[in-house]
Amino acid sequence: MDRVGIVGCGLMGSGIAEVTARAGSHVVVIEQDADALARGIERIERSLSRAVNSGKMTDDESASIHANLAFSLDFADLADRELVVEAVAENELIKLDVFRKIDAAVEDPAALLATNTSSIPIIKLAMATKRPEQVIGMHFFNPVPVLKLVELISSLLTSQETNQRAREFATDALKKKVITSQDRAGFVVNALLIPYLLSAIRMLESGFASAEDIDTGMVLGCAHPMGPLALSDLIGLDTTLAVAESLYEEFKEPHLAPPPLLSRMTQAGLMGRKSGQGFFSYRT
Ligand code: CAA
Repeated sequence: MDRVGIVGCGLMGSGIAEVTARAGSHVVVIEQDADALARGIERIERSLSRAVNSGKMTDDESASIHANLAFSLDFADLADRELVVEAVAENELIKLDVFRKIDAAVEDPAALLATNTSSIPIIKLAMATKRPEQVIGMHFFNPVPVLKLVELISSLLTSQETNQRAREFATDALKKKVITSQDRAGFVVNALLIPYLLSAIRMLESGFASAEDIDTGMVLGCAHPMGPLALSDLIGLDTTLAVAESLYEEFKEPHLAPPPLLSRMTQAGLMGRKSGQGFFSYRT
């Protein structure tokens, strides 16, 4: 894939843009407004600086990633792309609208259209396009430059060729490890991870233990790299809530229902790292 488009330059889109540009593809990143684009560019800059400062990347590599990245507010700039990855907010209506726009903009009849959704059925997004057989789920993990996994999700209509091309891109170009899942809410990882995060939030909400002790318990007791509340803050409480809602909608199991504390914090704008405050504070 020489020409790739990424729609959305938030936590996930910026990381997907970085690793795709690092793999040598030319990447056009689309955002909805100038402020969101500026924040996305800054996010990529910070990630590249961190990689250079920690010796994970040379200055030359960082420069070539910059050279491979272009930014735009206009979907028309996706016209010549061979692959477009959608990574906008985890909201079905927003994603459906974005998929219609991508489908209208991309001229290559063989282009792949991928979504980084964590939980929205791939078939729903595919049916918003005129080429459902070329739509596939490619689900990355945050932080994308660091975590090796991509979940590949074919819908009932995704062609074998689309699956094969997406798999080759993820493994050969991006050097990720691919696992496959059926088109079910949460796929493999979030179907397991989100109930665990919700349990930790319920534990905090009921006064069972403090946030610090819950997280320390899982870091030191189970050797997780971070505790469930810090991880919810990293994912973003709005995204954690959205994924929980999709899981509950799909399976209707009580343990998948978002706890009120998660909803209230999201409504209050306490969304974790990206807003400076979640279960923990990130204000400097
Ligand atoms: N490119 C390459 N390497 C980079 C990089 C970049 N842009 N940025 C950072 N790195 C490297 C660093 O050099 C560092 O390398 P070493 O460990 O060899 O020194 C490594 O990546 C870790 O980076 P940091 O030092 O910044 O951070 P850390 O050591 O404190 O670890 C963490 C932070 C990676 C987030 C770790 O705590 C972790 O893995 N946490 C769990 C994250 C997780 O579970 N994510 C999944 C969330 S679920 C999701 O994303 C999907 C969803 O749908 C909701």
